[in-house]
Amino acid sequence: MGRFYATTPIYYVNDVPHLGTAYTTIVTDALRRFHQLIGDETFMLTGTDEHGLKIEREAKAQGLDPKVFCDRISARFRDAWPKLDVSPDRFIRTTDPDHEAFVKELWKKIEANGDLYEGEYEGWYCVGCESLKTEKELEQPGNLCPLHKAPVERIKESSYFFRLEKWQKPLLDFYARHPNFIQPESRKNEVLSFVQSGLKDLSVSRTTFSWGIPVPSNPKHVMYVWFDALSNYRSALGNGELARFWAPNAKVVHLVGKDILRFHAVFWPAFLLSAGYREEELPDVVYAHGVLTVDGQKMSKSLRNAVDPLKLAAELGPDVLRYHLLRAIAFGQDGDFDHAALLERYNADLGKNVGNLLSRVIGLCTKMTNGKHPDDDVATDGPLEAELFEAYEQNVSAARDAWLNLAPHLALDHAMKLANAANLYVAKTEPWAEAKNGNTARVNKILSRMLRVLEAISVMLWPAMPLKSDAMRAQLGLPPVRAGVGVDIWPLKLPSIRAGLELANAGPLFPTYDEKAQAELLERLVPKIEKSEETAKPSAKTGTGTGTGPGTGTDGGTIAYDDFATVDLRVGLVISAEKVPKKDKLLRLTVDLGETEPRTIVAGLALSFTPEALAGKKVIVVANLAPREFGSAEFDGKKVKLVSHGMLLASGPSEDLRLATIDGDAAPGARLK
Ligand code: MSP
Repeated sequence: MGRFYATTPIYYVNDVPHLGTAYTTIVTDALRRFHQLIGDETFMLTGTDEHGLKIEREAKAQGLDPKVFCDRISARFRDAWPKLDVSPDRFIRTTDPDHEAFVKELWKKIEANGDLYEGEYEGWYCVGCESLKTEKELEQPGNLCPLHKAPVERIKESSYFFRLEKWQKPLLDFYARHPNFIQPESRKNEVLSFVQSGLKDLSVSRTTFSWGIPVPSNPKHVMYVWFDALSNYRSALGNGELARFWAPNAKVVHLVGKDILRFHAVFWPAFLLSAGYREEELPDVVYAHGVLTVDGQKMSKSLRNAVDPLKLAAELGPDVLRYHLLRAIAFGQDGDFDHAALLERYNADLGKNVGNLLSRVIGLCTKMTNGKHPDDDVATDGPLEAELFEAYEQNVSAARDAWLNLAPHLALDHAMKLANAANLYVAKTEPWAEAKNGNTARVNKILSRMLRVLEAISVMLWPAMPLKSDAMRAQLGLPPVRAGVGVDIWPLKLPSIRAGLELANAGPLFPTYDEKAQAELLERLVPKIEKSEETAKPSAKTGTGTGTGPGTGTDGGTIAYDDFATVDLRVGLVISAEKVPKKDKLLRLTVDLGETEPRTIVAGLALSFTPEALAGKKVIVVANLAPREFGSAEFDGKKVKLVSHGMLLASGPSEDLRLATIDGDAAPGARLK
């Protein structure tokens, strides 16, 4: 038992929460919950990374003061996580005053130790990465950043440099003395060879923009955003917390995507060592997990926006999403988020395995033991009980080890194996046959054993599925899992017999989806780029219902409000519009929906409106329609795909369309209901 401090990266506010950032955040939350179960005192940190050129530009593009812009997007992150059952102990923002004060102090310590000097930097910068790139790293033609596939920028300006080169040897010594610092092993080797190949001094300030923390001794400079951002892991802790969570008996674990491992495994310890922290004051583990694809595709910005974790959580329940992300992706490796696989796994693991076990035993108890936990004399156990017990001991301890080794997918696999063993036990022991033979003691033993295993499973699933665990325990007549500091409640031992305790039959915990329901869900959830000729249906549509929505009928029948509510209607402000060359009916619009970036919407409005007439209009947009492709067109000599990310509402024939709009002062993005 000890202390466990787990962090996620702090997320850039040029994007909103998406499945990738939700993934790291959910894993971090689950890990810290596991540590709570074993009695550790825990602290979980997440937050937003708000300074730097990327954010300054994004704010400017939206005509907003950077702080106002950051306030807005940061709130989206802060509000998103509780909807996924994640509740960090602190949500840090790099614009928080205590963070700024800490970073300045850190800078001063490093400066006082002689590790900063002024110079001039000239080279390539990727604003997406907020990182300098060497010539060698760039992809040709076009000087592209290998990660963002976008051209890097040439920068030349005066800058402070951090003497990173000096720290090469101490870092290598540190890695050697702390073999678990970088995980998993394969990633560690990458970092080692990077450091062994030689480190160059690092440019750590900028002078050509101002959205950052000023350098204390020379406020013409703002600090490099990564210097600022990495410091959050320490600045987030107040004095008392620092003493508890960044201390020899506390484990400090940074969970990050492999894209940002180098910053965490090389720069961060170098900054700390340079500021005078001792090796034992450095974080214990930097764990780099893999990159998620969705249904086999790279998460491009438009796809990311289409796979909204909050929408998935609202549709399936947060726990189902959490379980799938934790179980389906081997932590540390790249993985694919596949919607169909999610439903299949849900049906198999949760519906048929755990869910069935629960409803079966509760159903049997309703019939055979008055709906109460029966008593049992363990002295009369037979070989089938021994077999179950063996599976129990093996899986419960293997699951614990898996969590300790940062392998949630394996931990959950062991919980499932245990449920499977319990299902097998019922099948073999046939309590219904024993009941027929009037063998009450045997019936009681079987049911009691299953209830005890289920109680253990409710604990084992809690880190991944806290709400479902509560619901499961309520059916078992038990209060929610209560973790307490200093008390290890991981069920290494089979929970005790709870003779006489009332059960509460509340129906299936994980109702399975039949084929039809699965197909319907997939239809709703899977983002797709529809292919269609522009001659087929233009994006602007008549406002009257045409019977394509859920639950509509051609007989003029009604729909439930919930069906209506699946259509996300929003106020959009047309920023600009342009004709699509060689496509008479189409206009390409840039529409602000209050998101980080305006959307491109392609609409069949050209016979009724000039582009100039549309700019500045408030329109009504179906915001959650799957992206739709209208072939391609040439703009400024470049051939581009015409993809529409939404649909405007309008009425009338295509040469005399009237746009649906809104009166008064509605803000872009406001929802219609
Ligand atoms: N602001 C920096 C981090 C500073 S930490 C001191 C940053 N922010 S980010 O918003 O780009 O977030 C990157 C992190 O989001 C990744 O390291 C990873 O944790 C998560 N992911 C983003 N996209 C992801 C996938 N497609 N797959 C898995 N994780 C993803 O970098």
